[in-house]
Amino acid sequence: MPSTSPSPTSGKNDTLRATVYLAVSVDGYIADADGGVGWLDDVEHDEADGDMGYSALIESVDAIVMGRKSYETVRGFDVPWPYEIPVIVVSTSTVDIPDELAASVRHLNHSAEELATVLPSQGIMRVYVDGGDTVRRFLRAGLVDRMTLTQIPVLLGTGISLFEGLGQKIPLTFESSTPYSSGLVQTTYTVSAGAAPSTPTGRPK
Ligand SMILES: NC(=O)c1ccc[n+]([C@@H]2O[C@H](COP(=O)([O-])OP(=O)(O)OC[C@H]3O[C@@H](n4cnc5c(N)ncnc54)[C@H](OP(=O)(O)O)[C@@H]3O)[C@@H](O)[C@H]2O)c1
Repeated sequence: MPSTSPSPTSGKNDTLRATVYLAVSVDGYIADADGGVGWLDDVEHDEADGDMGYSALIESVDAIVMGRKSYETVRGFDVPWPYEIPVIVVSTSTVDIPDELAASVRHLNHSAEELATVLPSQGIMRVYVDGGDTVRRFLRAGLVDRMTLTQIPVLLGTGISLFEGLGQKIPLTFESSTPYSSGLVQTTYTVSAGAAPSTPTGRPK
C-alpha cells in the first residue's frame, strides 16, 4: 500500500498543498457520460485489499475541496454523508447545503489561486481535492504535490475525462504502484513543486 504521508515538497507550513486520489478507467475517465460512477461498483472488492490507502489519505489532510458537480453526485448517493472532515464545495453559483451538513460543509467561490491564500489563513494547509475540473484547476495553479490514481480495469469509451482540457504539460515523478487482487492498479506520482503554471499547450476548458 503506498504511503500517503506528506511528500518532501509539502513541508512548508504556510503553503496550501493538495493531494489527488481518484479512480480512473483505463482510458482516463472518472465518470461515464452522464456523470455516473456505478461502473466503480462493477469491480468485486477483495477484503484483502483493505481500503487502498483511503483512511491514511483522509488522516493526512485538513479538509476536502470538492467541485460542485462531485458534491452533487455524492449528495445523490443513497447513503449518509460519507465525510467526517470539513468539506469545501467550490462553485461560482449557489450550493444547496442542508442544515444537517452545515457544520462541516461550506461553499466558497474562489479560484484555486485565491484558495491558496484563503485556506491557509484559516489553518487549512493540506487538502484532498476532488472532481476532475477542480483537480485540473489545482494542477494548473501548481498546488498539487501528490496524485494517486487507481486504475479500474475497464474501458468506458466515453465519459468525463480526468485530464482533457488540462492545457499544459506537468511533469510527474513516479512514486509507487500497487496491483490489487481485485484487478485495480494504484499508482502514486509526486508532482514537482512549482510544476505549474507553464506554457499552455492548448486552451483549458
Ligand atoms: N472516479 C472518481 O474517483 C471520481 C471522483 C470524484 C468525482 N467523480 C465524478 O466526476 C464528476 C464530476 O467531475 P467534474 O470534472 O465534472 O466536475 P467537478 O470538478 O466535480 O465540479 C466542477 C465544478 O466545480 C466548480 N468549481 C471548480 N473549481 C472551482 C473554483 N476554483 N471556483 C469556483 N468554482 C469551481 C464549478 O462549479 P459551477 O459550475 O457551479 O461554478 C465547476 O463547474 C461526477 O460525475 C463525479 O461522479 C469521480
